[in-house]
Amino acid sequence: MRSFVVTGSAARQKTDCAIVGLHDGAEPSGAAAQLDAATGGRITRLVRRGDFRGRAGEVALVDPDRGPAERILVVGLGKKDGYDRKRYKKALAAAFAVAAKTGARDAVSYLSLDSIAATDTYYRARLAAEALGNALYRVPAIRSKRDRSESRLKSIGVAVAGRDQKADAQRGLEHGLGIAAGAALTRDLANLPANVCTPGHLAQRARELAKAYASVRAQVLEERDLKRLKMGSFLSVTAGTDEPAKLVVLRHDGGRKNEAPIVLVGKGVTFDSGGISLKQPPGMDEMKFDMTGAASVFGAIKAAAEIGLKKNVIGIVPACENMPSGRATKPGDIVTSMSGQTIEVINTDAEGRLILCDALTYSRRFKPAVVVDIATLTGACVIALGAHLSAVMSNDDDLAAELQEAGRRAEDRCWRMPLAEEYHDQLKSNFADFANACGRDGGAITAACFLAKFTDGLRWAHLDIAGTAYLTGSHKGSTGRPVPLLVDFLLHHD
Ligand code: BES
Ligand code: MN
Ligand code: ZN
Repeated sequence: MRSFVVTGSAARQKTDCAIVGLHDGAEPSGAAAQLDAATGGRITRLVRRGDFRGRAGEVALVDPDRGPAERILVVGLGKKDGYDRKRYKKALAAAFAVAAKTGARDAVSYLSLDSIAATDTYYRARLAAEALGNALYRVPAIRSKRDRSESRLKSIGVAVAGRDQKADAQRGLEHGLGIAAGAALTRDLANLPANVCTPGHLAQRARELAKAYASVRAQVLEERDLKRLKMGSFLSVTAGTDEPAKLVVLRHDGGRKNEAPIVLVGKGVTFDSGGISLKQPPGMDEMKFDMTGAASVFGAIKAAAEIGLKKNVIGIVPACENMPSGRATKPGDIVTSMSGQTIEVINTDAEGRLILCDALTYSRRFKPAVVVDIATLTGACVIALGAHLSAVMSNDDDLAAELQEAGRRAEDRCWRMPLAEEYHDQLKSNFADFANACGRDGGAITAACFLAKFTDGLRWAHLDIAGTAYLTGSHKGSTGRPVPLLVDFLLHHD
């Protein structure tokens, strides 16, 4: 995808597709007014006839017989009052969804000229590029017949008011396209079925990423390495499957050689059946998405490489299946983690924390500046926050605030939950140092408390993305979240 920034009147800008906005109940203004004049009133006519109101997300494709634009996409922005980045994002998504299906090879968005609460030139351009990337994304469906042709859109432009904003907008576009490329990788990996996207497949994709980018290196640890490292907790989860577990380490070296890295740890359970504590059949197919934390680490590393981020980032991905069998871990079994702490496995379906705890311990060898783990960890998180915000828990107030801010800026939000001492009591065990599961109350928090037992002395945060990682129902599929949040965090952290 090519990107460019334009200045000056829309009436003089040649393009295959001009995207202009219209507020509910308002007359065309700005670029919309300029194109309206250049086309002999095609936009006002739409409104006057009652064909277009300007409701948020409404789209009309105009075929003007004169003027500089081959097509004009008029997008509804809703009432002028309260127009914010959420509606801006919605308008972009609606516009690009239509633009992608036309024959247009380039599109110029003039939506970036409107003032939008809490955005600047950079974010207006970045959100546009991200929205385009999302609109162009196609699920890697495995069908007997090829069904969809690729979009012709190859070039995106955004308009800015003056030349002094060009550099910011161009940087926003480049970052947005990088984030979109990362999120597309995340979605591809997460959408693949578990019989394709195995731990071995993830390892292979990591090697491919390292081959594609000079800044990226990949290392894959095998089960014998995990045994040598005494990762008894991680290994207890993979005990029931025939599919070999892997620990994937991906690094983007963009900073100074001895600069402390930001470490991202992603839950890579390529299928979570629950193990001996077997899940119910309804919705079990969705447990192929239980490696989205891992996929988001791949996506963030890819975006960092695309953007040329000048920081060191290390991704650690423990990848395995959680399956029942005669060799599987049983409820009541006690395992010893890499940290030396012993764990009573009360419920084999609380497996995410069992693989993450050893990966968190492993992260210490990199002397990280901060460690952030990302996981579809608990159903309780979905109950607490639904599908809209991810949860963040942290032993560091500044880090939690940074992640919340990054989520707000990236329009990929998260909400902090507490890690109070009282919750830790729920994990007490009569037979080991502590248990891996307890009653349902505060389940997202007790899961984070479990992880906290492995992060003493680390600046650490945990993102529970169980509700935000994928959609269910007729739109079932990966959302690419929280890649925008993670990349925004990487860009701002220092
Ligand atoms: N992968 C699941 C969490 C999950 C549930 C993600 C629903 C997305 C949607 C996790 O491994 C799990 O099974 N957690 C258990 C923990 C419990 C046994 C303490 C849960 O949430 O029920
Ligand atoms: Mn589980
Ligand atoms: Zn799981």
